[in-house]
Amino acid sequence: MNKLVLYCRAGFEKEVAAEITEKAAQCGIFGFAQLTENSGWVLFDCYQAGEADRLARELPLSQLIFVRQMIVVGDMLRELPTADRISPIIARYQALNPLKSCDVWVETPDTNEAKSLLTFCRKFTVPLRAALKKSGWLATSERDKNAIRLHIFFIGSGQCYVGYAYIANSSADFMGIPRLKFPAQAPSRSTLKLEEAILSFIPKSEEKKRLNAQMIGVDLGACPGGWTYQLVKRGLFVYAVDHGKMAASLHETGRIEHCAEDGFKFQPPKRKQIDWLVCDMVEQPQRISKLMIKWLTSSWCRETIFNLKLPMKKRYQEVKYCFELIEESLTKAGLAYQLQAKHLYHDREEITVHIQLR
Ligand SMILES: C[S@@+](CC[C@H](N)C(=O)[O-])C[C@H]1O[C@@H](n2cnc3c(N)ncnc32)[C@H](O)[C@@H]1O
Repeated sequence: MNKLVLYCRAGFEKEVAAEITEKAAQCGIFGFAQLTENSGWVLFDCYQAGEADRLARELPLSQLIFVRQMIVVGDMLRELPTADRISPIIARYQALNPLKSCDVWVETPDTNEAKSLLTFCRKFTVPLRAALKKSGWLATSERDKNAIRLHIFFIGSGQCYVGYAYIANSSADFMGIPRLKFPAQAPSRSTLKLEEAILSFIPKSEEKKRLNAQMIGVDLGACPGGWTYQLVKRGLFVYAVDHGKMAASLHETGRIEHCAEDGFKFQPPKRKQIDWLVCDMVEQPQRISKLMIKWLTSSWCRETIFNLKLPMKKRYQEVKYCFELIEESLTKAGLAYQLQAKHLYHDREEITVHIQLR
């Protein structure tokens, strides 16, 4: 067990490889990443024994922008016999002897090709779970802070990686994909991006304190209003900035003011302290980063969620460049802050960033 399988959106394998290689090295762990383009996963092979497990415990998943889930695995099991796929999997757990677990998830990469495998995975989970229970591998409670979850990652009907993740440092969602229901009243599907961002970046216990009816938000590039909808739903009053048309249903709430202005020139109305700035304008990432810096260093807002669109080839380098720009400018302005970023399930060629001033 000295490898990691890292799940991602298909097409982002190179970003994952660059990111895990760099972040592992920062933990003093070296290895090499193997990938197949558009496969939806990357294998990171660590050079020293025990280091994949150490990464799974010590490298926070929240710090890996492009990674949806991270599991510790051994070598791939190949040519599983169709008559009995369970025995080799149990034998692998016996050989590897990880901690006892509380659950098992049977997963695949998130690709069109793997969709048919998913039906098999669902069916296979039932007898596998029963067999793991019987042989004592599913025994502990999820409350244990070191608890692990078993993951079987199928990349073909006879090929899988047998592995595990530390629950405290893993995605709580099957395949690392949150299942969000599109709210029927929302004006656009983009609404799910902001909903997922709020779920990912703000602990549920703090949501009401940090997003509520006493607050004012600004939404740059707001039309038709999917992001504004999420803020209004949480009680905020929103200045929706865009030359386009906002959905009538949002005007009817009485909780928005539509400002048909350029988002790069818009300034908060006098005597209004803005709590939240959100921004989904399709623009160069560096230009958006500079705009966010302007808002934060001018004390125009305290918290922001924005997208960095990444249509270019060197996506990871572009993100790093933007973060260096932000880091340099906010530090120079004497601001303490927390930055989180994720390639969310509802993001396509973009990532979502959250900055909170301390
Ligand atoms: C991806 S859409 C936003 C969708 C929106 N977040 C939603 O959930 O409905 C991008 C929007 O940014 C607006 N936009 C682009 N450049 C802008 C600018 N300089 N100032 C204001 N709005 C801009 C466009 O008019 C477009 O409506």
